[in-house]
Amino acid sequence: MTSTLLEEDSGDAGAQEEFEAAFEAAVAADERIEPRDWMPDAYRATLVRQMAQHAHSEIIGMQPEANWITRAPSLRRKAILMAKVQDEAGHGLYLYSAAETLGTGRDELLDKLHSGRQKYSSIFNYPTLTWADVGAIGWLVDGAAITNQVPLCRCSYGPYARAMVRICKEESFHQRQGYELLLALSRGTEAQHAMAQDAVDRWWWPSLMMFGPPDEESAHSSRSMAWKIKRHSNDELRQRFVDICVPQAEALGLTLPDPELRWNEERGHWDFGPIDWSEFHAVLKGNGPCNEQRISQRRRAHEEGAWVREAAAAYAAKHSGDGRGDSGDGGGDAEGARKEAVA
Ligand code: 3HC
Repeated sequence: MTSTLLEEDSGDAGAQEEFEAAFEAAVAADERIEPRDWMPDAYRATLVRQMAQHAHSEIIGMQPEANWITRAPSLRRKAILMAKVQDEAGHGLYLYSAAETLGTGRDELLDKLHSGRQKYSSIFNYPTLTWADVGAIGWLVDGAAITNQVPLCRCSYGPYARAMVRICKEESFHQRQGYELLLALSRGTEAQHAMAQDAVDRWWWPSLMMFGPPDEESAHSSRSMAWKIKRHSNDELRQRFVDICVPQAEALGLTLPDPELRWNEERGHWDFGPIDWSEFHAVLKGNGPCNEQRISQRRRAHEEGAWVREAAAAYAAKHSGDGRGDSGDGGGDAEGARKEAVA
């Protein structure tokens, strides 16, 4: 967007209208809105809400899979899983950083997560009961995330769109490793096949819920789509996901737990059965199988990591480059930092 739109709120009503018109024109022309551009307060708030929920999902999403790192069946599987869980932490980092460009700090967002004032994805309130769940999460949960997130690479807000490009590349890899894991189980022993089928049975419906409530109940969709934050409605993306998964399940030799799945020639899509929205709402209210465990584990990790944040802040102050840091050891300048690094 052009620099004439830099935020300079003069209080002049004419100028305000001009800013608004320029913002709407930029969105209509598919230009990116950048952090220093003028933007409506509600646009900023919507972005912070969605990006925060997204960032929270990435870091809470580390928990169900990390649960299996010590029990992965081989060194190869363990290395892949560790890398994946680390990737999710990285995604959280990109997204919290992108939210910071809108003037909302990570501390504030984490505080809202820990106090239950902001949400994270419903999907991470389900338990990972067997090793096959790691495969089902990769195939279905990461698959649903990619379906939802590829269009976010064209989000009207520049920093969010750019963060999503990198995230989607990594999520695609996660989806493939999950698929490959499930395929190995499905083609393995009878017990392994049954374990894979059980995992798919448990993760299928919650994965469909990840796309959010049906369009007619989605509070934010129409506004977010008009601003080109979201490019497609919740139901459109859910349908796209079902259409992708049906042939993949067949290739896996697994069944999707929906007796109403049927190809609809007229629509050119797979019809699917009704979603139990009462379960979705219960999970959002905090009554899913693992809500309490996830949030208390997150709070504990945050508290236990306090010394790392304090040390990092002290280090940054010490080596801030203005020479005023409390060096203690006489190394409060760049030279001192170099010596310390070498030591
Ligand atoms: N879980 C938890 N909350 C959900 C939800 C879900 N599956 N789906 C919707 N909601 C919430 C919304 O946040 C909103 O609550 P709020 O007003 O308190 O914020 C409310 O339900 C109404 O839903 P809307 O459809 O009106 O909300 P949105 O327009 O924001 O659409 C969304 C919901 C599709 C999830 C959208 O926010 C979105 O695309 N977010 C970015 C992607 C994201 O958050 N992904 C998380 C998935 S997991 C992940 O990415 C981790 C990866 O490693 C797998």
